[in-house]
Amino acid sequence: MGNTRWRAASRAAVALAGAGALAAGMALVLTAPAAAGTTLGASAAEKGRYFGTAVAGCKLSDSAYTTILNREFNMVTAENEMKIDATEPQQNRFSYGSAEQIVNHARSRGMQVRGHTLAWHAQQPSWMQGMSGSALRQAILNHVTQVATHFRGQIYSWDVVNEAFADGNSGGRRDSNLQRTGNDWIEAAFRAARAADPGAKLCYNDYNIDNWTWAKTQGVYNMVRDFKSRGVPIDCVGFQSHFNSDSPYVSNYRTTLSSFAALGVDVQITELDIEGAPANTYRSVVEDCLAVARCNGITVWGIRDSDSWRSYQSPLLFNNSGQKKPAYDAVLAALNSGTNPTTPPPTTPPPTTPPPSDPPPTTPPPTTPPPGQGDCSASVTVNQWNGGFVANVRVTAGSSALNGWTVTIYLPSGATVTNAWSADHSGSTGTTTWTNVSYNGQVGAGQSTEFGFQGTGTAGTPTPTCTPR
Ligand code: G3I
Repeated sequence: MGNTRWRAASRAAVALAGAGALAAGMALVLTAPAAAGTTLGASAAEKGRYFGTAVAGCKLSDSAYTTILNREFNMVTAENEMKIDATEPQQNRFSYGSAEQIVNHARSRGMQVRGHTLAWHAQQPSWMQGMSGSALRQAILNHVTQVATHFRGQIYSWDVVNEAFADGNSGGRRDSNLQRTGNDWIEAAFRAARAADPGAKLCYNDYNIDNWTWAKTQGVYNMVRDFKSRGVPIDCVGFQSHFNSDSPYVSNYRTTLSSFAALGVDVQITELDIEGAPANTYRSVVEDCLAVARCNGITVWGIRDSDSWRSYQSPLLFNNSGQKKPAYDAVLAALNSGTNPTTPPPTTPPPTTPPPSDPPPTTPPPTTPPPGQGDCSASVTVNQWNGGFVANVRVTAGSSALNGWTVTIYLPSGATVTNAWSADHSGSTGTTTWTNVSYNGQVGAGQSTEFGFQGTGTAGTPTPTCTPR
């Protein structure tokens, strides 16, 4: 409704401005005037973005809370209810009641949902805290698969892995029981999530990765670059953006967002709160997101200051009584300023996210494997459910590097490819042929890359063949 009202008003304003400009003999610039959105969600939507909040399930019975929630926001994150301890309190006994309450509240009112979080070293149930090694690896992948499957089709983006990097100057991984199962635990989680909920964007989410000069930021950046180069299914990076005197907002934040976006992932501001809620800083964060086409939206970590995990810092947009603070006005004004996109920013749904066409600022030049016609092999893992499947295909170079590859996969009668990523293909039924795309044809000796596809029907157990090109 707000959008409809704005469009009518803006059309009238453009007509009036146009008439005045023509009367004065000036060229008419056909850009819409500032939007007149009156809520955070509606104004963000005018810019092709969302505006969300963390929601605590126990507060959905507080009408002051839900009045603001339902009026202002069009994206919701469960503050605690989708975490591991909430959804799998005992091993293999899943509990979705509180999470579903939030998901249903949101979706029945047209709000979307961010899923937070499938894999994390914290808020693990006690049975998981005591596990290690392959048993823990199996348990976390089962958790990812079960939870993402349960909510399949209802989640805009998943925080697949949360806070896996260390603070400080190492730029490396955080020690945790999950990390001790092997460095590939993160990519294994992303693959499991893709197989379980192929329509959702898959994010890595962390704090203290806002400042481009920080080692932790660079560590995560390097991981995402590596994942994109190897076809690990990652679509987005979540910047928690809890700003305070120890981790302040800095003006290179926009550089951080745009540098990650240049890797070929979307960026999302996922848990925003700012100590003292300075209006200017909130305004800058919004302007930075609007300046980066692949910044999908902003989520604040709570509604009123009294709802915040750091309520003593009064870091949010509404005071304890639910009144709008100056920071709210600044955010709304920033969302309403400038021009509206004539076409929405690219939000290519996964898993067809294109690779970056230009190398990001700090990317070293790619090393080109020496020319050669190495041999190759391919293997397929299929996640099958009643009526559909996702196949992930791993292409591995033999003793010399590949400069391109072709994989042939026979699909049984009734199976049809409906969607694919990281490979071109001919044929969607029967014999299907898959060739590398521009960014994954060069595979070093002994190295691997991946592509995948989704389909209807039953894939069976395909036996792919690989040929160098
Ligand atoms: O519900 C129980 C209550 O029954 C009990 O009496 C009380 C006693 O301490 O605890 C209550 O649970 C608390 C829960 O929040 C709900 O309020 C937990 O102790 C407390 O640890 C938990 O804190 C959450 C925190 O994550 C845990 O790591 C915060 O609400 C939540 O805002 C916060 O969110 C995280 C994001 O997931 C990840 N990024 C950082 C962010 C802030 O820490």
